[in-house]
Amino acid sequence: MADDTRLDGKVAIITGAAGEIGAATMQLFAARGARIFAVDRDEAQLQRAVAALPSEARGVAITADVTREDDVAGYVQRAVADAGRIDVFYNNAGIEGVVAPIQKFALDDFRRVLDVNVVGVFLGLKHVLPVMLQQGAGSIINTASIAGLVGAPGIAVYSASKHAVIGLTKSVAVECSDTGVRVNCVCPGLIESRMLSSIAAGRPAGGPADAAPVLKRIPARRLGAPAEVASVVAFLASDAASYVSGSAYTVDGGRTAA
Ligand SMILES: NC(=O)c1ccc[n+]([C@@H]2O[C@H](COP(=O)([O-])OP(=O)(O)OC[C@H]3O[C@@H](n4cnc5c(N)ncnc54)[C@H](O)[C@@H]3O)[C@@H](O)[C@H]2O)c1
Repeated sequence: MADDTRLDGKVAIITGAAGEIGAATMQLFAARGARIFAVDRDEAQLQRAVAALPSEARGVAITADVTREDDVAGYVQRAVADAGRIDVFYNNAGIEGVVAPIQKFALDDFRRVLDVNVVGVFLGLKHVLPVMLQQGAGSIINTASIAGLVGAPGIAVYSASKHAVIGLTKSVAVECSDTGVRVNCVCPGLIESRMLSSIAAGRPAGGPADAAPVLKRIPARRLGAPAEVASVVAFLASDAASYVSGSAYTVDGGRTAA
């Protein structure tokens, strides 16, 4: 019997591909047989991440800012021009923003987080969906966060932006009913990464992200790894998830269940 978790021949676009979760997901997609179009605004880091892919992935690096509609239209056109289709879209680029209580948040900082995390996700959906609807098939995975499910002190705007990603995911999934296009999101918890260290460093209590009180609140008693997020994304991307749409999958070691 064919392994329906494989991604052989599928054409995938990944945004935030130079980041830790994006790069881990690219590697797993490539290992499962996908062809990769990798998007990020950090050109140097993106080139390194794409160079690390196996040659069969035929990785293409596209430097683009997900908040600019021309850039988004451009990465979609490039994938369609080169590969003729888009089977999987991992809409993942995001920023944590400044860590501060809401009364100290500057308006520009607030808008910047919404711009990348919400407008960027919206623009990706807007430009990729027509291609998938025309094909009558496709899988979109947005990256939300457990901060999209529960409150997160010091990163209220990040939390608001990720709540918005979950709302977009569910609504667009329903808009795509009966089209063959599935739309889901992942909600990573505390993943051992640059982003988590940056948030932990900005919190008044300070201390490392893996400090005992933090781990005590996670039933798995450890931080997650980017590869553990990637494996859920790869499942959602695959035909093994053929009956999954509109879901927000937590990858958090049980943190939001506790
Ligand atoms: N690391 C965690 O603990 C964690 C937890 C929950 C959710 N997330 C989410 O996972 C996603 C990936 O996070 P990560 O940990 O890999 O972070 P990261 O900072 O390593 O990667 C994010 C990538 O997005 C890119 N990016 C940012 N703004 C962009 C823009 N305007 N246009 C194009 N690219 C842009 C960055 O250059 C970077 O390469 C984000 O959406 C993040 O909010 C992360």
